[in-house]
Amino acid sequence: MQSKRARLDRFISEQMGINRRDVRPLLAQKRIVVDGSPATDINHVIDEFSHVTLDDQVLQDNTPSYVMMNKPPGVVSATKDEQHRTVIDLLERPDRHHLHIVGRLDFNSSGLLLLTNDGRWSRQLTTPENNITKLYRVTLKKPVTEAYIQEFFEGMYFPFEDITTRPAKLHIVSDHVAEVSLMEGRYHQIKRMFGRFDNEVLTLHRIAIGNLSLDPSLSPGQSRALTGSEVINISRV
Ligand code: URA
Repeated sequence: MQSKRARLDRFISEQMGINRRDVRPLLAQKRIVVDGSPATDINHVIDEFSHVTLDDQVLQDNTPSYVMMNKPPGVVSATKDEQHRTVIDLLERPDRHHLHIVGRLDFNSSGLLLLTNDGRWSRQLTTPENNITKLYRVTLKKPVTEAYIQEFFEGMYFPFEDITTRPAKLHIVSDHVAEVSLMEGRYHQIKRMFGRFDNEVLTLHRIAIGNLSLDPSLSPGQSRALTGSEVINISRV
């Protein structure tokens, strides 16, 4: 989702169904108030979270929402699906239909899933240049060996997308359990990487995104709002 930045005169003209030319006198008369202060500049830019009134009538009053969910397996990371329950269906918040997903998890994957209505925040987390790591715990059908570590780190060529994966860190927890840290999210990336060793992923659980770990008090399907410091610190290096 794009963050909705717009010039104030365009926003007012669209909301009120008036010509943009006719917005100028409203600004001059200080009848438009943005975030508590009268707006006078024709070039003033607002975003989807600016509070805007005209003659004390509220034209926009959106508050940003940031939610973490412990996604259970068997639920689709999408806002709509014809066949299956979606992560949106699991939310009880009144604003759930205004949220979008920040980095999907596959149908059978579980763990930390973020949802928000703040397009700028989600873009900052998903832009590859920002190197936000995602940490997964994986259980495997066959034992995982030291040989995997080097190949995960060197990157693997995916002919379908014509890309080589970025260095991924693999830590062996036990014979059949590994933790993998990625800085990108290609389609079924982890399953395909283990697939190179003909090793099937049995379960895949996302533990953390950047500096934010899944809250251990959330049972599968439960969610909670992020705290202000979690919102800010998630991408802090
Ligand atoms: N890699 C996968 O294969 N699946 C996920 O859900 C996430 C990463």
